[in-house]
Amino acid sequence: MVFLTLSADNLAIVNNKPMQSAKDQIALDKLPKHVAVIMDGNGRWAKSRGEERTFGHKNAIDAVRNAINACNEIGIPYLTLYTFSSENWNRPNDEVSTLMNLLSKTLLLEAEEIHNKGLKLHVIGDINLLPDLVRDQLLSLADITKDNKNGNLILALSYGSQKEMLKAVKEISQEVKDGKLDIDDITEECFENHLYTKNFPPVDLLIRTSGEVRISNFLLWQIAYAELQFLDVLWPDFTKEHFFQCILDYQLKERRYGKTSEQLDSK
Ligand code: IPE
Ligand code: IPE
Ligand code: MG
Repeated sequence: MVFLTLSADNLAIVNNKPMQSAKDQIALDKLPKHVAVIMDGNGRWAKSRGEERTFGHKNAIDAVRNAINACNEIGIPYLTLYTFSSENWNRPNDEVSTLMNLLSKTLLLEAEEIHNKGLKLHVIGDINLLPDLVRDQLLSLADITKDNKNGNLILALSYGSQKEMLKAVKEISQEVKDGKLDIDDITEECFENHLYTKNFPPVDLLIRTSGEVRISNFLLWQIAYAELQFLDVLWPDFTKEHFFQCILDYQLKERRYGKTSEQLDSK
């Protein structure tokens, strides 16, 4: 008997027969439009190897690439990656500066690849708080890729959902105060138009790695009807196969939006 498991990106061979990758079983006509990922577990990954937390961040880039490539390969149009939260500013200074340097270095190395893949880069969050260099790199890559059509890569940076919603409430209140908006016109659509995500569809699938089962202030409005998947894998170990398996699991769900199964069946 042969039982050989190759790297998770390759096919496994069991009993001399290649096992199907989850990718081959995905129904391409039922893909989620928008997948969001809470990339968590870098610190624990490093600690379990007796290393500093920042070692985990440095080893997380391949996993980011895996998520982007997996999305790109099957044609998911929107991918949002929770890269740095508004609360992450409270981490030790040296960890924050390592993360910012890493972000800058990675953008420099990956910019061409992102553009060549035809991806359009967007950033959501309070980017004014980012170091000037990082903000300039992000805005420049967003500009360079603005006409790309193969998918949208959205980086949530210095992002916090409560702050995002408060910003929306303040802007809307100002419009009412200035007599430009009637209170009765404050609809869900109006509110969404004041969020960073106004041009993106709602999240269909939210994935969080690291085993934590929480949302950590991420896209609270936008995940109202998302399917949630919590994986026991630490982010630096995340592979394309994990991603494809998440899509397969997503496709097994019945999304009822408050209706009954029977109502959906009769359509
Ligand atoms: C996610 O990994 C990366 C960021 C939040 C920037 P963590 O650094 O949170 O790793 P854990 O959760 O402490 O293991
Ligand atoms: C959420 O992870 C933020 C990112 C992945 C960027 P955290 O590690 O900061 O979340 P908590 O503190 O465990 O809730
Ligand atoms: Mg964490």
